[in-house]
Amino acid sequence: MNRLLNTEIAKQAGETVLIKGWVHARRDMGKIVFFDMRDRSGLLQVVCVPKNLDDETQELLKTIRPEWILSIEGVVQERGEKQINPDLPTGTVELAASKIEILSQAETPPFEVDKDTSKVDEELRLKHRYLDLRSERMAENIRQRARAMQFVRNYLTDLEGFTEVQTPILTKSTPEGARDYLVPSRKHQGKFFALPQSPQQYKQLLMVAGLERYFQIAPCFRDEDARADRSPGEFYQIDIEMSFVTQEDILQMTEKMFTALVKEVFPDKKIQQEPWPRLSHDEVMEKYGTDKPDLRENKDDPNELAFAWVTGFPLFVEQTEEDHFHGAGDTFAPSHHMFTAPVEEDIPLLDSDPLKVKSYQHDLVLNGLEVGGGSIRIHDPAIQEKIFDLIGFTVEQKKEFSHLLEAFTYGVPPHGGIAPGFDRLISVLAGEPAIREIIAFPLLSDARDPLMNAPAKVNQSQLKELGIDIATK
Ligand code: AMO
Repeated sequence: MNRLLNTEIAKQAGETVLIKGWVHARRDMGKIVFFDMRDRSGLLQVVCVPKNLDDETQELLKTIRPEWILSIEGVVQERGEKQINPDLPTGTVELAASKIEILSQAETPPFEVDKDTSKVDEELRLKHRYLDLRSERMAENIRQRARAMQFVRNYLTDLEGFTEVQTPILTKSTPEGARDYLVPSRKHQGKFFALPQSPQQYKQLLMVAGLERYFQIAPCFRDEDARADRSPGEFYQIDIEMSFVTQEDILQMTEKMFTALVKEVFPDKKIQQEPWPRLSHDEVMEKYGTDKPDLRENKDDPNELAFAWVTGFPLFVEQTEEDHFHGAGDTFAPSHHMFTAPVEEDIPLLDSDPLKVKSYQHDLVLNGLEVGGGSIRIHDPAIQEKIFDLIGFTVEQKKEFSHLLEAFTYGVPPHGGIAPGFDRLISVLAGEPAIREIIAFPLLSDARDPLMNAPAKVNQSQLKELGIDIATK
């Protein structure tokens, strides 16, 4: 007999069927035992009446506990009117078991997975993430994330003519203002790959390559301190780059896509204002004192979404110790990144008053979080070089970007893009306060994975091969 999913059972009244899944809950009512059985489709009530079972199965029944995995054969029966459970999609029927097979026994989990686990100690949850993901809320978060990712892929590919490209993970430092994760090279001892903080340079090179419209659900790696909305290791961006576009084109395309995403994948949510408000950097700083204002009218409404665009950023901010531009000079740090274009009319100010120069940066804000950033890029090598000088790059440091400047000499279309932070966006849409709740296997806030026990020491021979000596304190 073929296995059916729990939610397929409702239409099978009177039929003998086979289900497989987990014991979500067990209830003993005298001699009758009820199981709520769980599978990927949902819950189904199974009733075990001793007279329907042979002696062996009756004995077996006594031992079965929550989270055991069973195969159950039985007859689907309609429930009496009073027994109907309107909260369950399968609530009009139950399965009267005739045969039970134990596929896997289970220890009692260290926390209850049939309840919301959000209050359970996070280290314990992550150490047993495979159990945490059995809980309904977490399983739904992971499914919603997958649906959202699929939606974006289909939207960009089918409706907007984008090509998805995988750019390298083992690469060179791509400065986005955070610390790099480094990977030592065995073949080139003393040299290191850096994991990409974003695919910024590659996506620009893909514009030089003539792709015109690139996207990637791109893994990004940043060694940063964690916050509720920030991963201390890896996260994903919906990385987008387009040629022959204005800032307006980028904003409109993104707005249309996310409006459709909310309607399709998060239909309970309502977007407070359409089209999304556009605010200038000067305006938000003056009015709200932050460049990511929370514009929700009713912050108690969990379904309210207040998207907003912020533009008109200054090109530079004063550089501080915190900036990680390869130990660059001490003058200016890019407000977004060093490839962002200044607005044309301010180009003369690059020589006289760089802090006054406005840029073509755009930030996407949602409920007080920055869920995306991007810009129109510099495509004039001379201006790019000037920006490097203003950041304080030495000749050596500039050489690190010579490949980009060289590429531009072969012809580069005007281009720009955006990178919405996928995890951050989905955590808001899923109504989760912390980004870790929508990531299957996240790091703890101290950048540790208690399940795999990463990071971990490696053996001496591996270090030797890499030419690495660990200094003992
Ligand atoms: P930026 O650095 O602004 O731009 O990053 C884009 C978006 O990525 C998300 N984000 C993060 N999400 C989770 N954890 C983190 N540690 C983290 N860091 C950033 C944010 C942010 O808005 N290459 C440019 C994009 C471009 O110019 O097209 C870039 O990476 O939501």
